Amino acid sequence: MSKSYNIAVLPGDGTGPEVVREGKKVLSAAATKFGFKLNFKEYDFGGDRYLKTGEVLPDSASEELRKFDSIFLGAIGHPDVKPGILEKGILLQLRFDLDQYINLRPVKLYPGVPTPLKDKGPEHIDYVVVRENTGGLYTGVGGFTMKGTSDEVAIQSMVYNRKQVERCLRYAFDYTRKRNKRNTLALCGKTNVLTYVYDLWERAFHEIGEADYPDIKREYYHVDATCMWMVKNPEWFDVIVTGNMFGDIITDLGAITQGGMGIAAGGNINPEGVSMFEPIGGSAPKYTDKNVINPLASIAAGGMMLEHLGEDQAAKAIEGAIMDVTAHKIKDMGAGRMGFSTSEVGDLVAERV
Ligand code: IPM
Ligand code: MN
Repeated sequence: MSKSYNIAVLPGDGTGPEVVREGKKVLSAAATKFGFKLNFKEYDFGGDRYLKTGEVLPDSASEELRKFDSIFLGAIGHPDVKPGILEKGILLQLRFDLDQYINLRPVKLYPGVPTPLKDKGPEHIDYVVVRENTGGLYTGVGGFTMKGTSDEVAIQSMVYNRKQVERCLRYAFDYTRKRNKRNTLALCGKTNVLTYVYDLWERAFHEIGEADYPDIKREYYHVDATCMWMVKNPEWFDVIVTGNMFGDIITDLGAITQGGMGIAAGGNINPEGVSMFEPIGGSAPKYTDKNVINPLASIAAGGMMLEHLGEDQAAKAIEGAIMDVTAHKIKDMGAGRMGFSTSEVGDLVAERV
């Protein structure tokens, strides 16, 4: 009997549905080729639903999504909804509810993709950022006093406990070992200023590394220096592990070095539960329904999902197909500049799978 997976699909807002359509097209091609089944079930969470019903996410959503083998997400963010409502109410809410404590973001330059980094090619840009995904500044701990007055105080706290830090670090060490490329894990922090939180990260990093991962080389970089080296010497990096806020910031920098939001994908991972895969970019409202948005990031997210589900061969086939298309077909990763429409790019990849 062939394996079968239940996938919840959340196309979301803006160009989300268009890129998800191509992602599903390629996933289905891979399933047929490698002999497994994907049962997709769509959910309409997003801005349009919120504007119609006033509800961001139904109370039952997380419980229902928990039952799937995986979640495939398009994009969240609507021009008619105040920034933050949907992002916090859907994307962050699901990351928290489903305890997707890892955000795995590969930074890999595919052949033929233009990078803004001078004299760098695919041989230089190939590393992975492990971003802690449920703690730190994102916990929302904070508040105002004397709001609206000239004495107003606003506080937003970076909160981490040892367990959160430890499970993220262990995931990163394991991932580095499994990747087996340079067996080097870099901690990105700010121990010279954030002397509590990154002190905890750094102590845990060395304790765990020394005790359980002596085969993995440890490096430390401050976050500002990390940004500098990601531009100047990206080839130094193998796997970078960092907290939630720094991980958010450095992965946009990483994404632009790998060709931008049209190609960068990531996974919100709960190693013991249900994970959610998505393009890193947003809903790009101005390109909606024009058939010009680049679907490669969504397709790549689909590949990551299959790898996570244990369909390694199918995942490799998708990545290989993407690389063939970037090397020989698409000239530019930008929306409207690919030389092909959104659906044509999906076809090109699906054919090659
Ligand atoms: C990301 C996004 C989100 C984040 C936003 C939309 C809440 O920027 O996935 O990187 O900050 O995590
Ligand atoms: Mn971000």
